[in-house]
Amino acid sequence: MRRWLATASIMMAGVLSLAACGGGGGGGGGSTQQPAASGGKQQVEVFSWWTGPGEADGLAAMRKIFEQQNSAYSFFDAAVAGGSGDKAKALLESKLQAQQPPDTFQGHAGAELQGYIKAGYLEDLTFLYDELKLKDIFPAQLVDQISVEGKIYSVPVNIHRSNVLWYNPSVLKEAGVSAAPKTIDEFVAALEKVKAKGKVPLSIGSEWTVTHLLENVLLGSLGTDAYNALFKPGANWNSPEVTKALESFAKIYSYAGDPQDDWQPAAKQVADGQAAFNIMGDWAYGYFHNPPEGGLGKTSKTDFDWAPAPGTEGTYLWLSDSFTLPKGAKHRDGAVAWLKVAASKEGQDAFNPKKGSIPARTDADKSLYTDYLADALKDWSSNKLAGSIQHGVSVNQPWLAAINEAVGLFVGSKDVKALQKGLADAAAANAQ
Ligand code: GAL
Repeated sequence: MRRWLATASIMMAGVLSLAACGGGGGGGGGSTQQPAASGGKQQVEVFSWWTGPGEADGLAAMRKIFEQQNSAYSFFDAAVAGGSGDKAKALLESKLQAQQPPDTFQGHAGAELQGYIKAGYLEDLTFLYDELKLKDIFPAQLVDQISVEGKIYSVPVNIHRSNVLWYNPSVLKEAGVSAAPKTIDEFVAALEKVKAKGKVPLSIGSEWTVTHLLENVLLGSLGTDAYNALFKPGANWNSPEVTKALESFAKIYSYAGDPQDDWQPAAKQVADGQAAFNIMGDWAYGYFHNPPEGGLGKTSKTDFDWAPAPGTEGTYLWLSDSFTLPKGAKHRDGAVAWLKVAASKEGQDAFNPKKGSIPARTDADKSLYTDYLADALKDWSSNKLAGSIQHGVSVNQPWLAAINEAVGLFVGSKDVKALQKGLADAAAANAQ
């Protein structure tokens, strides 16, 4: 499956720089300094962007198991705040280029990881796959996304779904919308009805969430095969079908509320009944559902409900978070210990119910995945697959940066023609 991903291009050195990083972060504070040993224990610097409400809960659950099982090591949380990792990935790139890698970092399976592999940043993890018999445990098509020439370069911890329409049932009812819209046209009609009632029809977060919306509308409008074809060599981003999809995107985006700081405040508008709809990955489920210390403690089906994003039923727009072993990791043994926990059934079954994702392992304890997550497990095993744009599957980082730029310009100009040209140019410059 998706052989084309194996040809993802080398990440352009210097595209991302430290200067682009907002810095900060939760947990360990995104420190660029190597953590020192503490209390005789070797610290293991784990780099991600899971600092915010909802996301941090999953990491904390896996950290707990790591600490229980590894008395010789202590966990150093080097997470850098900012949904989708835009800020984290900029800092990471500068660390990798400076040969100051964290001991392990989160990278998306697919084109994003292929970029790190081809830049020579990662160690081959085949030894771990052999030792833990992981090839029997992870789906073959997923292992394909994290391999180059038969060598395997990361440990996937989960499968996330990008194409989820989150909605507030009471707001829909008030607006006279009787069910979650299944098509783009039904969606536009529902947005209009909500607007007439004075509520926010569609909540939106920071700029990357607009690209997230775009990938969903492209899939919903084009259909799965035509969407997947966009990332194959010679794809036509100038087609009338893409024009139509972008016009729908512009129409849908015209119903968006004021941009919120990140995905959490946008999702919260739905759960609080200020907004009707939000299209976001299923990390939003962790945030809605987790108890108040980390999440919103909301009741599913009452405070929030879900459906496939309009036009995408039967397709899983997927992505997968995975952990790596960078070459030159200062605490390599500790990093390998972390990867073992990340690969384990126990680690994945602690992490995923909190993270709002389903496990990458095929032998997880299904009874732990209830409510939204039971639907996700069912759909993952039966749906067609399409790869996320914003979250590393279908396009590499330089291509994503070019897409984000075109989307950023569109947010200001609302110019569909210019957006299509920007996307076509991005593909021409970056597709392999
Ligand atoms: C994705 C990541 C998810 C979640 C989301 C929002 O890129 O794969 O795990 O963190 O960003 O931050």
